[in-house]
Amino acid sequence: MSTIKQSLLQAVNKLKKTSESPWLDAEVLLAYALKINKTKLYARSEKVLTKNKYQSFQRLIARRLKNEPVAYITHHKEFFGLDFYVDKNVLIPRPETELLIEETLKQSSINKKRLTIVDVGTGSGCIAISIAKNISHFLTTKIYATDISKRALQIARKNAKRHKVFSKIKFLYGNLLKPLPISLFKKKQNFIIVANLPYLTTREWQKTTPEIKKYEPRFALDGGKNGLFYFEELFQQIRSNKFVLNSLKFVTLEIGAKQGPKIKKLTKKYFPKSTFIIKKDLAELDRTAVVDL
Ligand SMILES: C[S@@+](CC[C@H](N)C(=O)[O-])C[C@H]1O[C@@H](n2cnc3c(N)ncnc32)[C@H](O)[C@@H]1O
Repeated sequence: MSTIKQSLLQAVNKLKKTSESPWLDAEVLLAYALKINKTKLYARSEKVLTKNKYQSFQRLIARRLKNEPVAYITHHKEFFGLDFYVDKNVLIPRPETELLIEETLKQSSINKKRLTIVDVGTGSGCIAISIAKNISHFLTTKIYATDISKRALQIARKNAKRHKVFSKIKFLYGNLLKPLPISLFKKKQNFIIVANLPYLTTREWQKTTPEIKKYEPRFALDGGKNGLFYFEELFQQIRSNKFVLNSLKFVTLEIGAKQGPKIKKLTKKYFPKSTFIIKKDLAELDRTAVVDL
């Protein structure tokens, strides 16, 4: 028989071997097993767990010990102040991606008129949904989101329903911009493309942590030999269509910490007249590229 406090301490000791945040993991997983919020754990710390609850907590800890991310175990991830459903079909939203939302919201407040925003590679839908929930000119802005994974799109739709923006965002299946009807670009709209595409080099992906490599979808992370495959493909798609090129105002991209100069070069190759700014994240690493076309 173990109390909440004892169960937590035992779990922390086990998790120390594999996790960088054993306390937080143990708290979140115990709160999840008991279906209470984290703060109540401490108010009830001397309460003895039932056999059933104790065993279900042990099963969760065993999964975590095999490196499964906490967010996949609990199916929750907070991003931009919103709670997203996640499972192994989608990348777990990262805190650094919040910078991409902030920059896109900034650009959209400059280009308020007849604005359409396209989130390319939407995954859990965290970018399109956070923008829909926070944009000041909600009623007049159109939002589209695409992904190459049908399962990811199902999750994005589920999250959009959860956050009551399902009717606001059109989710489309296909390769980058391809699923968007070309008639859309002929409507004299101002377009902003926002994208967090796979940008690790294949080698970086191979060397990443077991938590990521074993559990998160490779197609969400591996950007090919030099990590630039999807950026180049996106730029080609933009440049090959004059309607897209004419109506596009900005592209905001999440990029790898060492990719700034390479993406700048690639951007200049495809859009010689564009201006290119890099924004750093809280760790002072290159994280978001803003391309003004
Ligand atoms: C790095 S994840 C980003 C997911 C989500 N936007 C986020 O920020 O958490 C990249 C996403 O791009 C999608 N993707 C990969 N290749 C694609 C393609 N050719 N066309 C559209 N989406 C693609 C993946 O399925 C994945 O959901």
